[in-house]
Amino acid sequence: METMTENKSENKKRVFSAIKPTGNPTLGNYLGAMQYWGGMSDEYDCIFSVADLHAITVAIEPKDLRENSKRLFALLIAVGIDPEKNVVFMQSHVRAHSELCWLLNNYTMFGEARRMTQFKEKSEKAPENINVGLFDYPVLMAADILLYQTDIVPVGEDQLQHVELCRNIAERFNNRYSPTFKMPEGKVPKAGARIYSLTDPTAKMGKSDSGDAGAVFILDTPETIMRKFKRAVTDSDAAVKASPDKPGITNLLNIYAALCGITVAAAEAEFDGCDYATFKTRVGEAAVERLRPVREKYDALRRDDGRLSELMRAGADTAARIAARTLEKVYKKIGFVRT
Ligand code: TYM
Repeated sequence: METMTENKSENKKRVFSAIKPTGNPTLGNYLGAMQYWGGMSDEYDCIFSVADLHAITVAIEPKDLRENSKRLFALLIAVGIDPEKNVVFMQSHVRAHSELCWLLNNYTMFGEARRMTQFKEKSEKAPENINVGLFDYPVLMAADILLYQTDIVPVGEDQLQHVELCRNIAERFNNRYSPTFKMPEGKVPKAGARIYSLTDPTAKMGKSDSGDAGAVFILDTPETIMRKFKRAVTDSDAAVKASPDKPGITNLLNIYAALCGITVAAAEAEFDGCDYATFKTRVGEAAVERLRPVREKYDALRRDDGRLSELMRAGADTAARIAARTLEKVYKKIGFVRT
């Protein structure tokens, strides 16, 4: 396992992505990102992480951070990321992430970080906790990506701006010294790149909306999933067609397309003449069927904490070795004395 990913073959491109353990992972996380990750290891050299260091930029209780982190690690494996074929690890287990973040801070402009949409949104949501970590968040994310000489970053649409910032930082550093970092590219899926809330289809479906009927969680029971879909808001006119003035139906069509791996046009054709209630039930059923095996695998993994810890350690060992090479290069280029 280690040799395969560590000694990355020259012709296989590297993929890196991560997800942070705040709140409860949603169908949005799954359709926009996680569902693709498991299938990438044949073509790419893949590294996936639970971004726990990112999770403390918003207020979180220690017990929640612990539970969310374990849950997400198990869930990454449950959605299909085979730890024998991929590197899967907890971000905080590899110290190079924090170290490179500090170094990159000095090549990131205040003005460019201030422009990040997510920083602005989160600041508005929690004006009492606009901490420096929240501001620095995209720089840590750049460190995550750049440490592994990443070619491709598979993410949902909301993360593209951060990947763009990462590219700017990499370019600035490479120009200031000499080529050090690979230039990564963000990649969003055709369907599912932005899934909206089922109750407010103008707002993103988010992990922290626990208790909100608008978010479907990957680990929701089939009954809960069905209930949430049946109550999803629709629009006044009755045709199942995507259009800008029908955000509810458009979102459901997009969800169905992403679940079934088809285009929105194909989904529209499938539901031509269908009434809203039947349509919502069919989308709910597709989600239930898709998530059922994930939930079963997840339950099995959570029965063995010892095994989970072993997998975390193995993943972190491999990741740390790869990351150390880049970090050492960076220290040297800047002019730090190394012994
Ligand atoms: P996070 O944890 O918010 O989300 C994880 C992934 O899920 C995608 N996503 C969505 N896609 C479609 N519709 C939605 N409603 C939706 N909500 C979330 C996100 O785009 C993301 O791909 N900063 C990152 C985690 C991170 C990271 C990285 C990602 C840390 N370091 C390095 C890539 C590379 C985040 O908070 O994602």
